[in-house]
Amino acid sequence: MNQTNEGVRLQKVLADAGIASRRACEDLIAAGRVTVDGEKVTWFGARVDPETAVIHVDGKRIPTRTELRYYALNKPRGVVSTMSDPRGRKTLAAYVGDVPERLYHVGRLDTDTEGLILLTNDGELANRLMHPRYGVSKTYLAEVHGPIDRDLGRRLKKGVELADGFAKADAFRIFDQVGRRVLVEVTLHEGRKHIVRRLLAEVGYPVQQLARTEFGPIKLGRLQSGTIRALSTKEIGELYAAVEL
Ligand code: URA
Repeated sequence: MNQTNEGVRLQKVLADAGIASRRACEDLIAAGRVTVDGEKVTWFGARVDPETAVIHVDGKRIPTRTELRYYALNKPRGVVSTMSDPRGRKTLAAYVGDVPERLYHVGRLDTDTEGLILLTNDGELANRLMHPRYGVSKTYLAEVHGPIDRDLGRRLKKGVELADGFAKADAFRIFDQVGRRVLVEVTLHEGRKHIVRRLLAEVGYPVQQLARTEFGPIKLGRLQSGTIRALSTKEIGELYAAVEL
């Protein structure tokens, strides 16, 4: 942050990040709601380097690096979670055709799992979201054959021993039921391969179909299968907060 002519005016940086109009951002600054690198900035004409400044509005981190992109994709079943496939199968690249930046997928889903995958060119954020240290939670809907044992939620939350170690759910509930087809919702905060399928198989409920509906603070919502949407400034701020950025 500086009071010289270097950098970009703070209200422009905030407006470019989609917070509000430049005029309204000036008001936010004057009202003392904006901090830069941890310090409250209220003076008119403050400039920052958007590449390096850490800006918060009302305590929420604001994404300021305009070259960074953040998307949510609803991956259809049958699509491999890579950007290219030597065997010629359909990949995530098929859905990011209009985006000029090179994007990375945040983790993977099994080819026969559908649902939420985050895509970004923010390598630091992507790495942290996948790092066990931050324990970012993911929520899945799994179709299994009922009836469901009354004890199932307790067993999953207590945890089970899998071939590669202990695993447990943070939350469990029956989401829907049609005859013997039961949709269960499972939340956990780890990313080992096939973890939900292995966990449910271990307790006697092999998964018939699987979809990821949430990744940390991001929800799949009504995003149609095979479509991609840009995350909002608020959502990006929530992702930063989830991994202490
Ligand atoms: N757990 C699984 O078993 N499969 C996925 O695709 C994701 C989590």
